[in-house]
Amino acid sequence: MIGCQIGKKCLRTPVPKNYQHILALAFAIQEVNRDPYLLPNITLGFRIYEENQYASMSPDVSLSLLSSRGKVFPNYKCDTLNLLSVLGGLNSRTSYQMATIFGNFKISQLGYRFSDPVLRDKTQFPTFYQIDPQYDLQNAAIVQLLLYFQWNWIGIVVQKSESSDHFIWIFDATLALNDICIQFVKQILPRISIFNELNSEQIDLLWTILSNDAQVVIVAGDSNTLQSLILSLYFYEEAKHTAFGKVWILTTQWEFSAIGYHYEWGKLKSLHGALSLTVHTKPVPGFKDYLWALNPHEPHGDVFLPEWWEVVFDCQVLKAGLASPDGRRVCTGEENLDTLPASVFDGKMTGFSYSIYNAAYSVAHALHAAYMVESQLALKRGRKKPHLHLSMKSWQMHVFLRKVLFNNTAGDEVSFSETGMKYAGFDILNWVVFANMTILREKVGWANPEAPSAEGFSINPDAIVWANQLMPVLPDAAQCTPCPEDQQPNKNHVLCIPKTMNFLSYEDTLGSILVSLALFFSLTTILMLAAFIKHCNTPIVKANNRNITYILLVSLLLCFLCSFLFIGQPRNLTCLLRQIAFGIIFSTAISSVLAKTLTVVLAFMATKPGNRARKLLGKQMILVLACPLVQTALCASWLAISPPFTNLDFHSVKGEIVLECNEGSTAMFYAVLSYMGFLSLISFIVAFLARKLPDSFNEAKFITFSMLVFCSVWVSFLPSYLSTKGKSMVAVEIFSILASAAGLLSCIFLPKCYVIVLRPDLNNRSHLMGKIK
Ligand SMILES: *[C@@H]1O[C@H](CO)[C@@H](O)[C@H](O)[C@H]1NC(C)=O
Ligand SMILES: *[C@@H]1O[C@H](CO)[C@@H](O)[C@H](O)[C@H]1NC(C)=O
Ligand SMILES: *[C@@H]1O[C@H](CO)[C@@H](O)[C@H](O)[C@H]1NC(C)=O
Repeated sequence: MIGCQIGKKCLRTPVPKNYQHILALAFAIQEVNRDPYLLPNITLGFRIYEENQYASMSPDVSLSLLSSRGKVFPNYKCDTLNLLSVLGGLNSRTSYQMATIFGNFKISQLGYRFSDPVLRDKTQFPTFYQIDPQYDLQNAAIVQLLLYFQWNWIGIVVQKSESSDHFIWIFDATLALNDICIQFVKQILPRISIFNELNSEQIDLLWTILSNDAQVVIVAGDSNTLQSLILSLYFYEEAKHTAFGKVWILTTQWEFSAIGYHYEWGKLKSLHGALSLTVHTKPVPGFKDYLWALNPHEPHGDVFLPEWWEVVFDCQVLKAGLASPDGRRVCTGEENLDTLPASVFDGKMTGFSYSIYNAAYSVAHALHAAYMVESQLALKRGRKKPHLHLSMKSWQMHVFLRKVLFNNTAGDEVSFSETGMKYAGFDILNWVVFANMTILREKVGWANPEAPSAEGFSINPDAIVWANQLMPVLPDAAQCTPCPEDQQPNKNHVLCIPKTMNFLSYEDTLGSILVSLALFFSLTTILMLAAFIKHCNTPIVKANNRNITYILLVSLLLCFLCSFLFIGQPRNLTCLLRQIAFGIIFSTAISSVLAKTLTVVLAFMATKPGNRARKLLGKQMILVLACPLVQTALCASWLAISPPFTNLDFHSVKGEIVLECNEGSTAMFYAVLSYMGFLSLISFIVAFLARKLPDSFNEAKFITFSMLVFCSVWVSFLPSYLSTKGKSMVAVEIFSILASAAGLLSCIFLPKCYVIVLRPDLNNRSHLMGKIK
């Protein structure tokens, strides 16, 4: 990362936090290469690419990692170096950009995900392994901490990112489960540049923290976010000569040694008494010696070391015996790392660096496992051991990486799963800032949410130094209660306000549109019925059984009218009636259609001499009665087993109470629908087969088409019905009712009406018969 210091020449220098990561990686690789058992005769190397703060560089860098000889030629193999694995990025944004590229090349990537839900998707990013702890684990650890101290009235400051909404959503749910109330949530942008004044966002942040009385504030974000917070606190405390006295709970995404340069660490005192979670670490043997042996005059290929040395010791690295051209102090190389404050350089491996150290070792162990398998295979075939670095392909790493299990040199067990590194909990650290600006981070406990509850949490409250000397007493805590189900907290979380009711009312735009449609279609049906009755003796009305035509028209009218049962505030009676009326009326309509189609078939067969069909003609009425009777029986048993009832649903739609009809028995609802589907399928098949039969007025063609419309409406109904909630769900059903009934009405009756009303000259027997020949 590029860091800039105010009032100094802008140096391309790794911010000290990231430099420890580089050293941890270099140290791990050095140890692996020296280990005579792990990877004998194989030398691991690594390249470091800096991550630009705007993240736009990472695709270029990723591509150049895939190429060699300093030019970008991905996919071309120009030398024998083999890229086995990448480590990075340090935040979910760069991790994501890298994962899109390395995923294509099946190269395993070990990186930080934080709360990004996308990177967790194994189907999309099969080669990405997360090396920071799953944040739901961390959330659970924070909850353990809050529950231990009985803090249930808190504020949250979170780094604004693509995934922060998701993070808050998940965290909110976890807290609510434990009856912990959030008083405020503030999202802030990470602040990269350092200016000695507050911007409007920081003032807003201050105002939020001051105007709320929550004594415990959780800060989730990386070091840039924390820096923004620290600056705000510092300016306030300097101006007012008071301390905030809040308990800051800091998450693992930022690092203590990340805060930056000398001149800033005085500002850290606002964090006095904070508690922080960090990945569980153990001292890594040899790391301190490795650090203390660093010499800027012998960087061994580490281009960052001299620059870093110049920044932290404020001197110039020059060849021995040369004088500094601008009179600045010359670095001797003997400067003592011990003199650096912990905020600038931490001799202990930080949680981030520890993950990187373990990740590097994991790759080595995966390689070791791969090598063992290959050499066993080679031995079986009686050949010499293969040259691993030539035969190993990067995609072969995955199966071995997922099975990695070893004890690291510090004695911690490291293992992998499909998605990433496993974690054995968190250390809880307490920040103590002395007046002489010495900063201590004391381990005061640990939390492991995955362990059984008795072993999962331990803290020594007496060892904790609080900002106000005393553990905060929280007067609001006792009053913190969740809102009743029919109410929701207001914006400041100080009042419960009623949720709004959600049902399809007549006043709704959607409701009134559907009502007008239903009225329009009902009126049309009534007019058609009137026309048919007026011309009841004309051949076109008499064709194919007049009575069935009337029944069909009346049932279609009822279909349109029954949509009114679905609109308006649901009551027990309307709930009982709506699906049942719908089921019975629609099955009557469809069985009439079926009867009409059969009339066409039977009439045709009756023209053949000696056919028994003639006897059956006129018996279709039985069908029109029998089919709805079966549906009625179904509905009756529905009412008997578990009738529909009105129900209040508090949770499906955010901030609203859904007033709905509960079907009582979903199985019965689908049985009624399926029976209708069955009837319409039969009608469709019969009509389709009969569509070419000669007839006085061939309805079969029109019926085929109408059943096609009908079936497609109800087939598309199901997915949309299942994917909606509340009033939209009801609207979908009404719409399907109207659309399918209107389909039947227009396909079957419009052509007839056209002839009856506009072309009475065509409405005579000879003409209709003549059409056939
Ligand atoms: C390493 O290389 C040396 C020299 O080529 C060879 O004698 C030795 O057996 C190799 N070791 C392994 C474990 O392959
Ligand atoms: C790691 O060390 C622990 C304790 O010494 C031991 O029980 C465990 O089996 C070791 N695991 C591996 C993979 O060597
Ligand atoms: C700062 O003060 C603390 C406590 O008074 C003391 O332990 C520590 O040694 C001091 N550090 C320095 C560098 O003077």
